[in-house]
Amino acid sequence: MSSSFGRILKLSIFGESHSPAVGGVLEGLPAGSPIDLHKLRSFVLRRAPGAQAASTSRKETDEIEFLSGLLNGKTTGTPLSFIIRNTDIRRDDYSKTASVPRPGHADYTGTAKYFGCNDHSGGGHFSGRLTAPLCCAGGIALQQLDCENIRVNARIVRVGSVTDDSEFTEDVSGKAFPAVSDAAGSKMLEAIGQARAEGDSLGGIIECVMYGLPAGLGDPMFHGLENTISQAVFAIPAVKGVEFGDGFALSGLTGSRANDAFCANNGSISHLSNHAGGINGGISNDMPVVLRVAVKPTPSIALPQRSVDMESMADTILSISGRHDACIVPRAVPCVEAACALAILDAVLLRRSEVYGH
Ligand SMILES: Cc1cc2nc3c(=O)[nH]c(=O)nc-3n(C[C@H](O)[C@H](O)[C@H](O)COP(=O)(O)O)c2cc1C
Repeated sequence: MSSSFGRILKLSIFGESHSPAVGGVLEGLPAGSPIDLHKLRSFVLRRAPGAQAASTSRKETDEIEFLSGLLNGKTTGTPLSFIIRNTDIRRDDYSKTASVPRPGHADYTGTAKYFGCNDHSGGGHFSGRLTAPLCCAGGIALQQLDCENIRVNARIVRVGSVTDDSEFTEDVSGKAFPAVSDAAGSKMLEAIGQARAEGDSLGGIIECVMYGLPAGLGDPMFHGLENTISQAVFAIPAVKGVEFGDGFALSGLTGSRANDAFCANNGSISHLSNHAGGINGGISNDMPVVLRVAVKPTPSIALPQRSVDMESMADTILSISGRHDACIVPRAVPCVEAACALAILDAVLLRRSEVYGH
């Protein structure tokens, strides 16, 4: 199933950008798990449009309505289902994209896959709006992980050509702009403002670190922790690259520089560095899991671009109006945390069933 994820913790996401609601069904949560709805709402609102200085002017309240699986603030153990209503719907903004696909968006591929039957308005099921239920499910997973003393924190390390080289020592989730360095953050915001003024857009890089994972989560080969985390992270539209630890840079190092050496530590074993990003052979090694996610520039831009009118099959020029993020990166930060949390909680539950049989 295309919009489903997970082996023990199974998430299915539904909806379109301009359908009455988007939502999800989450199965496999242990019965009796408390969900702090206030905390969940705060998390989901970090992604909401309008919450970020750099974001689209689409206004959505993103109220979560649980339909099943939650009683007196605790999971029942049966499927947890929820919806988030779409309130700020303007189908007319997208009248052109039915026949003229936006370069960089999924209008053309969606038409090819579904023979034009799909709801193209606002990108339909391919819209960034679908990250609202992703964040709701991921926010619930984060609360579960918290009980296991596992923390997941992401931050922006790059927007366009502006980088933040600061060490990731503080949780930036409470900040209006989720970069460690405020000076770098202001420069990133400036660059986004400039791109928007020019009718253009910017991409960037998000770093996510997960602390507290025990050694032994994940599997070799096709279900490695890198595989499953990447599978969840690539569900976020506009993600085009994922690297773990030193990632691509490892390919240029010698083995003696790239290896994470061991040392004895009071009867257990510790690593002296973390170039591997906390994973060897697809399995967590006790060190923090570290990944970097490349987010491309927002496809919908005001600057004129070449496209084709698929009705007349004639070349045409497309300039996109409507409400679009000039840079998706700030809103994608909680999405990355959510995707990682879902993948890690699934691995934790799977490990538990392997070891204890439940
Ligand atoms: C939070 C979020 C908001 C997004 N907002 C927009 C937007 O306003 N305009 C746009 O063209 N794309 C937006 N996107 C990206 C597109 O949905 C995405 O590029 C498109 O579906 C094609 O998928 P791909 O880039 O993964 O190939 C957004 C993505 C996310 C995660």
